[in-house]
Amino acid sequence: MNRRDFVKATAITGAAVLLDNIELFAAAEEKIIRVAVIGCGSVSNRYLPQLLSSKLIKVVSLCDIKYDRAVAQNKQYNVNAETYPHIDAMLKGVPFDMMVTLTDMQVHGDLNKKALLAGKHVWSEKPMANTYAEGKALLDLAKSKKLRLWGAPAVVNSPQFEFMSKTIQSGKLGRIASAHGQYGHTGPTWSAFFYEKGGGSMPDLGVYNMATLTGLLGPAKSVMAMTSIVNPERTVDDKGKIKVEAEDNAHILLEHDKNVISHVMCGFNYFDPHGHEAGTQSLHSIQVYGDYGNMRLIGYDWETNGVVLDTSWTEPPKLMSTDKGGYEWQEGARVVGESIVKGIEPRINVGHALHVLEIIEAARKSSATGMKIKLKSKFPWPMV
Ligand SMILES: NC(=O)c1ccc[n+]([C@@H]2O[C@H](COP(=O)([O-])OP(=O)(O)OC[C@H]3O[C@@H](n4cnc5c(N)ncnc54)[C@H](O)[C@@H]3O)[C@@H](O)[C@H]2O)c1
Repeated sequence: MNRRDFVKATAITGAAVLLDNIELFAAAEEKIIRVAVIGCGSVSNRYLPQLLSSKLIKVVSLCDIKYDRAVAQNKQYNVNAETYPHIDAMLKGVPFDMMVTLTDMQVHGDLNKKALLAGKHVWSEKPMANTYAEGKALLDLAKSKKLRLWGAPAVVNSPQFEFMSKTIQSGKLGRIASAHGQYGHTGPTWSAFFYEKGGGSMPDLGVYNMATLTGLLGPAKSVMAMTSIVNPERTVDDKGKIKVEAEDNAHILLEHDKNVISHVMCGFNYFDPHGHEAGTQSLHSIQVYGDYGNMRLIGYDWETNGVVLDTSWTEPPKLMSTDKGGYEWQEGARVVGESIVKGIEPRINVGHALHVLEIIEAARKSSATGMKIKLKSKFPWPMV
């Protein structure tokens, strides 16, 4: 082959390779996951912009039993989706791959089961079910149908969680002894379900700290708790004056491996001007103590502003890990949806969400009986 022919041949091959790459790229570009959102209330205002921001996700359906909400959100966010007043109609409607469950907590389990039975992956707001047994059955169902199931929260995705986990794993804090987490505000005002049976401050608020502390320290082996109702009556937007049936105040002790003990405190009667917006919060909500150092997470574990690390007898504590790295607490459904398209495993783990659900149930049992409750669930750990 002379030089001219060689150049021509390689140019043609090069062009063919380029064309192949363009086609591959186009195919990858076209690979998207079709998402249906059920529950178009308060939190959908956070989820929809996240989902719509992804090139790998297309929101094709919106559903709410208060149908006008599905229609309104479709318009508000220019979703261009089909809208439905009921899950059955949505499952029979436009095809989709993953359901994102953002409804009242009490119906998550039933709705998630329907979606899995219909062959859909599921991302569920917390809790993924009302009981551990119901959640475990959902996971077994998902596995048997080769589907994926995930549960909020997404706190393990934050760079601050990663920083704390790596600091613990590196041994910088010495032997870990104790940790504490707290989260509370004066309670949601818009919906009664937060205060009805199956609601409560543990699945709504304590769940974040439980996910963070078990994520950092490993699965809990047993639980002791005291829960109470401080405010027996509330006035909420959807039902007016209601009786509070679920705990609005809870203290939960967790026993981890190697005799580590952690504590979570959560409630709906805690004055905190930063309760829903943590961007400017300078106080800490999580603390971890070892015999060579301690760490305090500034802000909340769902929206973090850095970690104060104290490992010196002589130097002042240092503010570390202040970069949020794009993390947002409402990113969970987007991240797992994209992970399905890309064929990668996200850090969020359904076994972890299930473990936290078992903790919540055990805490209620412990408070009712005065007993220490042993747990059976575990999850892959360390997470980072
Ligand atoms: N609001 C927040 O800031 C926030 C933050 C994080 C997590 N969450 C979680 O998100 C979930 C929803 O909370 P929210 O504050 O958005 O509540 P919300 O009351 O504002 O919205 C819930 C929506 O679900 C709809 N719904 C109820 N049952 C349904 C069913 N069977 N089928 C279809 N739609 C149904 C309701 O009509 C309502 O519009 C809860 O699990 C909550 O813990 C909320």
